[in-house]
Amino acid sequence: MEQSEVVSSLSSALDSQVYKDVDSFFLENLPYGLTYDDVSLATRYSDILPGDVRLDTSLSDRLHLSLPIISADMDTVTESQMAIAMALNGGLGLIHYNFSRREQVKEVARVKNHIHGLIQEPITVTPDLYVGDVLDMIAKRRFSFCTFPVVDDKGIFLGLLSSPVVRERYRSTEVRVAMTSRSEVFTIQEEELGDNPIGAADRFFTEHMGIHKLLVVDRDDRLRGLFTLSDIERINEEARATVRPARDVDFRLVCGAAVSATRTVSGDLDKENMIGHVAALVSERIDAVAVSTAHGYTLGVGQAVTMLRQEFPDLTIIAGNVTTAEGIEFLAAAGANAVKVGQGPGSICTTRIVAGVGIPQLTALYVASRAAAKRGVRIIADGGIAKSGDVVKALTLADAVICGGLLAGCRETPGNIIEIDGKLYNQYRGMGSLEAMRDGSAARYGHPSVSQEKGKFAAEGIEALKEVSGRVDNTLAQLVGGVQSGMGYLGAPTLPDLRRQARYIRITAAGQREALPHDVVEVKATQVSR
Ligand code: IMP
Repeated sequence: MEQSEVVSSLSSALDSQVYKDVDSFFLENLPYGLTYDDVSLATRYSDILPGDVRLDTSLSDRLHLSLPIISADMDTVTESQMAIAMALNGGLGLIHYNFSRREQVKEVARVKNHIHGLIQEPITVTPDLYVGDVLDMIAKRRFSFCTFPVVDDKGIFLGLLSSPVVRERYRSTEVRVAMTSRSEVFTIQEEELGDNPIGAADRFFTEHMGIHKLLVVDRDDRLRGLFTLSDIERINEEARATVRPARDVDFRLVCGAAVSATRTVSGDLDKENMIGHVAALVSERIDAVAVSTAHGYTLGVGQAVTMLRQEFPDLTIIAGNVTTAEGIEFLAAAGANAVKVGQGPGSICTTRIVAGVGIPQLTALYVASRAAAKRGVRIIADGGIAKSGDVVKALTLADAVICGGLLAGCRETPGNIIEIDGKLYNQYRGMGSLEAMRDGSAARYGHPSVSQEKGKFAAEGIEALKEVSGRVDNTLAQLVGGVQSGMGYLGAPTLPDLRRQARYIRITAAGQREALPHDVVEVKATQVSR
């Protein structure tokens, strides 16, 4: 049965009177600014299954992602581990800039040189330690593994300390005695890995049943990495699950990094410093640079983007943040490929309270999307995403979303884990919090270095905690499942279809209550094994 044969024009007219297309909806709801929880999407005729949905997007003509999710350039969210995990899942990580230039470039190099499945900097121990020292390190740093390569002070591989001997009863045994010696451990030369390292490791484990670790060494027997059987098995599973990593033309994982529009002591844009910084990132084959500030519609950010565009014509430049059509037009004219939209929606953000400034996020995205369409730039919804439904709503207007808080509990974030009342937490803080600004991010908020000007300006972010969740893969899988489901309801197999199909309705507080589970006692499902 064809939809067009049975649905009358009267029904279609009624639907469009109640469930509005994007322009009618946002313009008719003025003068109010709306955010994710103010709005719900109407279902549309669908002949697709959620599994058919593709989430491909691009941030420029050169930078393509298979997942429209970016991890925030925050020092409690994105360093190399998070960026690797994001790219492996098809998205992008923006390495934060509370680093020295050298450190940030090194983080980017880690992502660009990452060989999936190869642990390139395994945690090692030295032969003079005792097994007891190793046990204490495992407990302190909460390692979930207890096999360690043993190396000398020059990095030469000496043997493997394996889990059966890392036990309380061997506490007083020296590592040099407890380890399996070099001659008994399986190794492979770095150059034997060729251009398909996973294939080489997979072949090895298939041919050596019962062996779980393969060490990689260079010609001088220096340790270069470690493959584990469980990682290789997981990768094979992922390949079957059709996750498509985001890679550049040379098959390396994609990576982005944030830079700030720094100033000289006289207050001018520090051109030399910025160009030197970005040139170093470009020499590591960075895929995108984000000029990240709280207020992107400013002289300084405009000058920074113009200068970077002139110096690096092929580089994908992201700039922001803005919430107005003028702001989009300004940054597009300066040469940005994608503009970050969001002022005040972030979970750790106090800009609206402190400065009284900011726009509810969906309205900001609407305004930005109309201007972006005219100027041919992409927009990225930055901040305030708390659940997969918010991602669906954001993607009806934006090309991608940036998540901070949603990823801040994941294992791949930097920083220490804190235990409070038996629960584990990760630190999560705004880049405009005093502590983060003290560590370097003051320029993002238009301030000079905090150490120079201590206490003279107000923080626009808080320090917080997020309960530790699992791996990024799992968090993203949950998000993707929700987004695919949303797009299935709207009959939208691709993101451009989602934008075309979106019809909105405003909801009230009662509607919001109805959207959550209500009038029941929730039971958390437990797995029953028989
Ligand atoms: P979330 O995903 O809601 O946690 O928001 C993350 C976003 O908040 C980031 O990508 C930034 O755009 C923004 N942000 C980060 N730090 C601060 C801050 O200190 N104040 C205001 N906004 C911030």
